[in-house]
Amino acid sequence: MKKREVHIVGNWKMNQTLVEISQFFIEMSKMKMELKCKAWIAPQAIHISILKEIAFTTGSIQIGAQNCCEHDSGAYTGEISPLGLADIGVEFVIIGHSERRTIYGEQNSLLNKKVLLALSHGLKVIYCVGETLEERESGQTFSIIENQLDLGLKNLPAEQAKNLMIAYEPVWAIGTGKTATAEQAEEVHAFIRSKLTTQAEQTIILYGGSVKPDNIDSLLAKENIDGALVGGASLKAQDFRALCSSASTAMM
Ligand code: PGA
Repeated sequence: MKKREVHIVGNWKMNQTLVEISQFFIEMSKMKMELKCKAWIAPQAIHISILKEIAFTTGSIQIGAQNCCEHDSGAYTGEISPLGLADIGVEFVIIGHSERRTIYGEQNSLLNKKVLLALSHGLKVIYCVGETLEERESGQTFSIIENQLDLGLKNLPAEQAKNLMIAYEPVWAIGTGKTATAEQAEEVHAFIRSKLTTQAEQTIILYGGSVKPDNIDSLLAKENIDGALVGGASLKAQDFRALCSSASTAMM
């Protein structure tokens, strides 16, 4: 029985065509199951509205965004407005994913602006942190994470902490098939919790990095792991469902 509500969050990244999306939901609906966990999906931005409509009819999945801008409106061609996300009823946004940090050079100070603005609109924020392989091997894991938390969550208003979630995603485990062991993950999750100044006990801390139906149970067995942020395995309805099913069992 978990202390906190278990969340399975699918990060679809830049994947899925309309045909694949409808196939995903047809398969999901065939697999009748009662969800005890929270099941969330972040599709690419162009599909958010479509998924919201489908999710509204199927009822059990909440839809979010993979990123947002640090401004609400203006001359920012190609950006995704957090105000706009809130306006169309999006529930959550992922901020600071390692692909945003490494490919698009997003720094902690920029991410801090995004986090604060998204929270101010009532969006739930999944703020991602994680070390590279080099950083882990040189013993810097905890200092890197601490820095990402300190700078990325600077000036977080205490009353908004309830809408903040953290995802620990070791960069070396994302899309590589190498998962951190449950023990490695738990060690960092406990560290993250110890660093949170408000709502520490209530905050959902997700693990991400090659989570699959065959390793989710051992991760969820750990006290400070409250769910998973899942890339590859969330694209297949069967795997996503298996993850939700493990999470539902962990809730009981
Ligand atoms: P993965 O991706 O599950 O494919 O490793 C996780 C993520 O990037 O959020």
